[in-house]
Amino acid sequence: MKPDVRISDLQILTGDNRKLLPNLPAESVQCCVTSPPYWGLRDYDHTSQIGAEPSPVQYVENLVEILREVRRVLRKNGTLWLNIGDGYARNGGTGNCGPNAIVGNTKKLIQKRNCKVPSCWGLKDRDLMGLPWRVAFALQADGWVLRSRITWLKKTAMPESVKNRPTSATEEIFLMSKAPTYYYNSEAVRESTGANLRNCWVLGPDTGGNGHPAAFPRELARRCVLLGSRAGDTILDPFGGSGTTGVVAKELGRRAILIELNPEYSQISKERIRHANQQNFRL
Ligand SMILES: C[S@@+](CC[C@H](N)C(=O)[O-])C[C@H]1O[C@@H](n2cnc3c(N)ncnc32)[C@H](O)[C@@H]1O
Repeated sequence: MKPDVRISDLQILTGDNRKLLPNLPAESVQCCVTSPPYWGLRDYDHTSQIGAEPSPVQYVENLVEILREVRRVLRKNGTLWLNIGDGYARNGGTGNCGPNAIVGNTKKLIQKRNCKVPSCWGLKDRDLMGLPWRVAFALQADGWVLRSRITWLKKTAMPESVKNRPTSATEEIFLMSKAPTYYYNSEAVRESTGANLRNCWVLGPDTGGNGHPAAFPRELARRCVLLGSRAGDTILDPFGGSGTTGVVAKELGRRAILIELNPEYSQISKERIRHANQQNFRL
């Protein structure tokens, strides 16, 4: 398998992770840090995109299948750091402020899908779907060890025009391992008091934006990479987006493999990494 881009120790593969992951060698990656698209929220403009399944049941199944391949490529003591968001089941129209208000680059395809309560799990209009936990439990049943639920408390939450519940300002990051014992460097990131890091991370968005609608903060990736790997290890992000995991991995002296479906986002990754490492590589 030839990467589109190889920047010293970083590979950017453009394509569907379901097709590309099986080409990676078993037990070659120490740590996977990733954030899949959330179900029914954004349109990433590709027929193979995850998150546009007609039913959230299929979404959970697809993630289990993809992350099973990730488990295969992880070393025996490797870890998965999975950031995943929730959503509401709604019957309602679309628009700028309705129950399914258009956010980010949401387009009609996904908006329509997200406009009718899915007929599964006993969902009713206005039900929080609990998708992060449904995915976590499905992964647990598939063989992963569920080690921690980290709550990312967003310093800047997306405004919501709701008057019947609090505004959502958190997302989950699940720490999962391939085996009950695994590599975790508890000294690598500590609380400011010196205590063991807690499972609530208060993080703001990175300033400036990078052209991707759903990039996670660099500090989120930095913590996962530092806790889950040593210098020289390989980090994988199968939903690479704008390459935040790759930029951070390179900065911390790790190797990285990014897989991204949309060539525009692969290009953004390439530019970001080029910018961050100007002295160290030639494309
Ligand atoms: C939430 S974004 C990841 C953002 C990333 N963490 C960052 O900081 O830029 C999810 C990404 O997964 C990509 N994606 C969706 N389905 C995919 C698939 N089947 N294979 C590879 N990438 C996929 C989307 O194009 C999108 O860029």
